[in-house]
Amino acid sequence: MTLPLIAGNWKMYMTINQAVELVLKLRDAIKGVSNVEVAIAPPFTALHHINYLLAETPIKLCGQDVFWEKSGAYTGEISPEMLKDVGCRYVIIGHSERRQHFNETDEIVNRKILSSLKEGLKPIFCVGESLEQREKGKTITIVKKQVEEGLRKISNGQMKDVTIAYEPVWAIGTGKTATSEQAEEIHNSIRELLYDMFNLEAVKETRIIYGGSVNPDNIDGIMAQPNIDGTLVGGASLKADSFSRIVKFKKTGERQ
Ligand code: PGA
Repeated sequence: MTLPLIAGNWKMYMTINQAVELVLKLRDAIKGVSNVEVAIAPPFTALHHINYLLAETPIKLCGQDVFWEKSGAYTGEISPEMLKDVGCRYVIIGHSERRQHFNETDEIVNRKILSSLKEGLKPIFCVGESLEQREKGKTITIVKKQVEEGLRKISNGQMKDVTIAYEPVWAIGTGKTATSEQAEEIHNSIRELLYDMFNLEAVKETRIIYGGSVNPDNIDGIMAQPNIDGTLVGGASLKADSFSRIVKFKKTGERQ
C-alpha cells in the first residue's frame, strides 16, 4: 500500500519571504517523519526558492494549477513542463475554487490531468459537491460525474500516479468539516466507482484523500477511516505548528 499523502494548499497566500520562513520551520517540525508523504503547494512565485530549501528533505513540491498545452502563446499560463522544471512532483487540478471562479469544467480538468501525467507530474484531482447539491441528495451523482469525466482516457498504468481529493465545497474554508463517517461514505463510493473504471492493480495504488477544514483537532478521526488515504489541507497548512501536527496524525481506530 502506498503511504498516506498529506498535502498543504497555500492558495493565494505568502510572499517569498513569508514562504521561506514557513518552510524553514516546517522542515524542522517534521524532521524524521517517514510514514507519510508530505507535499506543499505554495503560490507559483515562491516555487523556485522553496525548491532549493526542500532539496535534502522528503517534502515534495506541488503546483496549485497548470495549463494543458506544452508551450505557446497563452499569456499568464504555466505548463506541466514548467512545473516539473521548477521542481514540482505534484499538481492540484480541478480545485473547487478554480471550478467556481474560473469556470473550469470537467473537460478542462480532464485535459489538465492528461497533459500533467504525460509530463510525469502527479495530479491531485479534486472533486466535491456544493451544499445545495448535498441537501438535494445529489452528492454521489455529482462526484461520480466529476470522477468519470475527469478521468476520461486515463490508462490503468497512469492511474497509480493520480490522487483523488474529495473536498465537499461546503467544508472548504468554512470550519465545517464533513464527519469522518460522511467522508468515508463518499470515499468508499469513489473507490467502488474506480473499480468499475480501472483494474484492481491500478485502484489499489490510487489514493483518495479528504479536504475541507482539516485541522489538528479532527485529523486523527479522519485518518482513522479505512478509505481515507490522506488529506488536502488549506488554512491549517499556513502555520508550521498546525500543519506538522496534521502530518504527525495519531493512528487510531481501524487504520492501526
Ligand atoms: P481548508 O481548504 O482546509 O482551508 O478548508 C482545503 C482546500 O481548499 O484544499
